[in-house]
Parts: sequence; C-alpha cells; structure tokens
Amino acid sequence: MVLVEKIREMQTRSTAQRRAGQRIVLVPTMGSLHEGHLSLVREGRKRGDYLVVSIFVNPAQFGPGEDYRTYPRNLERDRELLEAERVDVLFCPSAEEMYPAGFQSYVEPGKLSSTLCGRSRPGHFRGVATVVAKLFNQVRPHVAIFGAKDYQQLLILRRMVEDLNFDVEIVQHPIVREKDGLALSSRNNYLSPAEKQAAFSLSRALRTAECLVGKGVTERERIIGVVEGEIAKEPLARVDYISLCHSSTLEELNGVGSEALLALAVWIGKTRLIDNTVLRP
Ligand code: PAJ
Repeated sequence: MVLVEKIREMQTRSTAQRRAGQRIVLVPTMGSLHEGHLSLVREGRKRGDYLVVSIFVNPAQFGPGEDYRTYPRNLERDRELLEAERVDVLFCPSAEEMYPAGFQSYVEPGKLSSTLCGRSRPGHFRGVATVVAKLFNQVRPHVAIFGAKDYQQLLILRRMVEDLNFDVEIVQHPIVREKDGLALSSRNNYLSPAEKQAAFSLSRALRTAECLVGKGVTERERIIGVVEGEIAKEPLARVDYISLCHSSTLEELNGVGSEALLALAVWIGKTRLIDNTVLRP
C-alpha cells in the first residue's frame, strides 16, 4: 500500500492505472476506521483491481460549533487496518491541499439536502457533495462505495453523479452493527458507558418499528409513536428528528405503502447519532 498525500500524484497514478485497463475503486472515508468502513473496503476489493481508500476529515462539511477539531483521528492505526485489507493506495490529502487559498467553487445539492440531516446541519451536504466531486476528479474511480448508514448522503451523491454526469458507479453497502444493534460510527468513540447504553435505543426503536410493520401496521402515527416511545425510555437521549419518508425523494409519508425509509437522528448527551431502516410491509 502506498500513501499518497498530493492530488497531482494521485491523478498521475490513477491515469496510469486506467491506461493499463485497471478498474479503479474508491472508498471515501474520514478515517478512525471501524468494521463498517472495513466492510466497504472488502466490498471494494471484490469490485475492482486498484483499490483506493481516502481519509480526509473534510472541514467543509462541519458547521460552526460542530466537532471538526475533535473528530477522532487515528492515521497510524487506520494505516495498519488498510494494509491488512490489501488496499493499493491510502490517499490522505491535507486540508491545504484540498482547499488551497482562493478556493471558492462548491457543489450545491438541491431539495434532497433540505430535509432530515440537512435541516439540523445547514451546509453539511454542500460540503459532502463538494469533497466527493473533488475526490472523483482526483482518484478518477470507476466505482465508489458508500454505506447505507448515511442514507441521505447516498441519495444526494447518486443525484449529483446523475446531474453532473460523473462516469462513476455508486455502490450502496448495508449498515454494519454491533451485536446489540448499535450502528458502528466513529462518533461512538465519544460515548461514555452510560451513553453507549442509551445509544442502543436508536436501533431498538427501528427494530420495534420493523416488528410493528411486520404485523401489518402501516400508519405513520403508530410507527412514529413506537419510535418516540423507545427513545423516551432513555433519559440521556433527545430526538433531533424521526422521519417516515419516501425512500428516494425523502418526502414525508402518511404511512408505509410498498416501502418507506424510517430515519432518525438522536442526541446522546453531546453526541448526535443517526440510524435508519427501510420498512416494507
Ligand atoms: P465517514 O463517516 O467516515 O464514512 C465513510 C463511509 O463509511 C460512508 O459511506 C458511510 O456511510 C460508511 N459507514 C460509516 N459507518 C457505517 C456502518 N456502520 N455501516 C456501513 N457503512 C458505514 O461519510 C463520510 O465519512 C463522509 O461524509 C465522506 C463521504 C467521506 C465525505 O467526506
């Protein structure tokens, strides 16, 4: 595995690989890797010849007062983990390399970014779309892999690829969870043992809703009601949003028709966690 820090070097390597007929796969991350990230990397290994993992904590997607500065950074450990997964390139540009003085061009996602996480984190998806567009131009992948954990992010990036004609196949990978259900996240590192206990309420609430839908209940009020009920059992948890919405437009629904996305964001102390599931009766 080679470590590449310069954009120009990344582009040169990728161009050479393309010329040699190699299929390039990109797994973009912000590092502090866990099994969720690693399952994307393993999927990536299967889908191409030249596997690039990027680690870049992207300042453009953090709002004022968010955790950009304290976001966990663990490059040495990440490097060892990726080496063991037979990654070809670890691409780690610096913030100055990515956003040099004078930088001023952004990708502005549309309506899909105005709801759910976009409502509580204004500008977040603009930062995500911009950095992913830049990574696509830097790494020139044929395929890029993203986790369903960030469901809205995936939809916005699919839309961006369509709208801006990026020649990249977007692959969605399922959410990886701990045994007890908690979705893996770099931000779980922030949780105290008591908070971690409270954090299980997110996945528990989703499972309860799935059971309800399994029994034939499809009304919005009842589904949202059980989710609220599960979260309310934890005094350390505070709901940011609970959404029952269309799985491709993210418009709120009155009930589960053939399919609906149930997505939630919950504050556990000072840590904001997200999780989701697709409900089908
Ligand atoms: P990050 O939070 O590091 O996540 C990198 C990728 O890992 C994303 O596609 C995310 O959905 C996926 N992922 C995280 N936890 C997961 C889990 N438990 N199961 C499955 N996949 C999981 O998402 C970002 O970084 C950034 O916004 C990025 C796309 C890199 C742009 O900066």
